[in-house]
Amino acid sequence: MEAEPTRILLDSGKIASRVRELAEEINDTYLGEPLTIVGVLDGCLIFLADLVRRLRMPMELVLVRVKTYLDADTPQKKPVIPPDDLARVAGGRVLVVDDIYDTGATLAALKLELLRVGAIDVKLCVLLEKDAPHKHEATLDFRGFAIPDVFVVGYGLDYAGRYRNLPHIAELEQSANL
Ligand code: XMP
Repeated sequence: MEAEPTRILLDSGKIASRVRELAEEINDTYLGEPLTIVGVLDGCLIFLADLVRRLRMPMELVLVRVKTYLDADTPQKKPVIPPDDLARVAGGRVLVVDDIYDTGATLAALKLELLRVGAIDVKLCVLLEKDAPHKHEATLDFRGFAIPDVFVVGYGLDYAGRYRNLPHIAELEQSANL
């Protein structure tokens, strides 16, 4: 059994027009104030690139990873902010940009860490929010689309490293044919 993208949930036109709207919501919120954008690798990359080109405030970009490790069999999230970028976060207004909100653990941990290292305000922006029971409440400030609780790929999202380059977002389904 392998998996392959089948049903298209969001085509490229729909994504592009929602990204334009989201950018305007963000422009209207910050009104030209300087901003540090924190992108969560790797899934944010295509969304981030499309979004930031429509933002009009002075900004700096920081790319972070959030690693998952097991502590007493419970998955824990560990944000890794490059040390050279800490000064861009400390004392600044931060907008986190991520691909998808599933359980919320990634964004909850990252927001706490950004506040701990001195960000004065942290807002969260995701392209997709899954209709899944959220175990970690991290309130979203900007959201592109609500989607069903299915595994999706494309527009930066991957399965085993593949499909990030798809221009649309598709559901990944098990296939017996491959
Ligand atoms: P949490 O549960 O922390 O999950 O909100 C967020 C991270 O989990 C990954 N994720 C997915 N990646 N298709 C993907 O390609 C999906 O449907 C999916 N659901 C969760 C992703 O890395 C995200 O940042």
